[in-house]
Amino acid sequence: MNIAVAGTGYVGLVAGVCFAEVGHTVTCVDVDEKKVKLMESGVSPIYEEGLEELMKKNNATGRLKYTTDYASAYAGADAIFIGVGTPEMPDGSANLSFIATVCRQIAESVVHDCLVVVKSTVPVGTNDKVEQFIKDFLDKDVKVEVASNPEFLAQGTAVHDTLHAARIIIGTESKEAETKLMEIYEPFHLPIVSVKRRSAEMIKYACNDFLALKISYMNDIANLCELVGADIEDVAKGMSYDKRIGERFLNAGIGFGGSCFPKDTKALKFLAKQNGYELKTVEACVDVNTRQKTRLYEKAKDRMITFDGLKVAVLGLTFKAGTDDLREAPSSDNIKLLLEQGADIYAFDPAGVPRAKLQFPEGEIGRGRMNYVASPEEALDQANICFVFTEWPEIKSIRPADYKRLMKIPLVYDGRNLYSTEEMREEKVEYYSIGR
Ligand code: UGA
Repeated sequence: MNIAVAGTGYVGLVAGVCFAEVGHTVTCVDVDEKKVKLMESGVSPIYEEGLEELMKKNNATGRLKYTTDYASAYAGADAIFIGVGTPEMPDGSANLSFIATVCRQIAESVVHDCLVVVKSTVPVGTNDKVEQFIKDFLDKDVKVEVASNPEFLAQGTAVHDTLHAARIIIGTESKEAETKLMEIYEPFHLPIVSVKRRSAEMIKYACNDFLALKISYMNDIANLCELVGADIEDVAKGMSYDKRIGERFLNAGIGFGGSCFPKDTKALKFLAKQNGYELKTVEACVDVNTRQKTRLYEKAKDRMITFDGLKVAVLGLTFKAGTDDLREAPSSDNIKLLLEQGADIYAFDPAGVPRAKLQFPEGEIGRGRMNYVASPEEALDQANICFVFTEWPEIKSIRPADYKRLMKIPLVYDGRNLYSTEEMREEKVEYYSIGR
């Protein structure tokens, strides 16, 4: 099948590369000429395990191409996948302007019947609008149908999640569209759930918001554990044996971040409100998460009186390990507060520093100062206090004795529960974590 993919972010690029890997002919379209050149040379614009290998392999076969020339890419395609961003608007709704631009370009470019597949996360009902929008701008006598095919990959494991997805969701309004999508996904040999378009759109939000809810629930229980003397790690372990609950996404911590959960919880809350419904569970999930992100900071502030002039070690900047993404990362909320308080921050992150520097440039910021270092040891050297924000292996490998040895005062606030409270106590490290 001849496939065009609009957008080369996490969703678009990974989908395009994986489609080529299973044998389709793929053209990835992006507006950025530099990015296209980079991808042609086999370099991925995003940090994702295994992606560059597959790009190089499929670039070499000629099955995978990149272009800024959307018109020829869309003209020759049997199916066009849309994987552009749908960022959050100030009111929590999804910004659909990138989708609209691509739809107009599709309408102007297609020369034969084709299927447009929306992979981006879009509010329920958007596919209907997309179909109408394309029809409005079509000036040739061709049939363009629209299908929904939400994406479930997680950053850091995107290639694996795509090639070994738990299921493929397809939302269509006609047999023809359903058959074509089934054909595209046939070589993946994965379970396919075929539903109506609006249900497919809703499945995506329902899944993400359920996982976000699970995390907020565990964070809520963790906070209560602290008050009543229970240990959230033991509680989660005990819960995980119940198959109805499952063992994943039970980790309490610093709160969820990233480009999906924060945006998708707010978007569903907005959609409900728009339809005159109050989605109380999701609202609670958002509230708990907002509070959770700075819970350790608040505790530390209480303990320290002030951070003014103190050396603060920050271990981990990205919203989770395995990615260089800093969107909605809890570290940002905390760094802002620490800088306002005059902290002298020494931050370590194995992948997130270049992006972090765009938000917090090295040097004086307000009353505080931002420094980036190449190892956790450098960050900890003579530090007065340490915050752990991301569960990178490089950070996990720092042992309790290292905190004691390196820091001026061995005082650690750990948002990822990387250590047992006993081992920290034995090494005489003053240690605060979540739910214990
Ligand atoms: C999430 C979903 O997991 C994917 O299925 C979905 O396709 C994707 O959003 C999307 O909509 O594009 P992602 O945001 O990449 O993927 O990352 P997750 O691994 O889900 O983590 C999200 C946040 O939750 C991170 O900040 C992570 O640290 C936090 N988390 C995760 C916890 O605090 N506790 C857990 O037990 C699990």
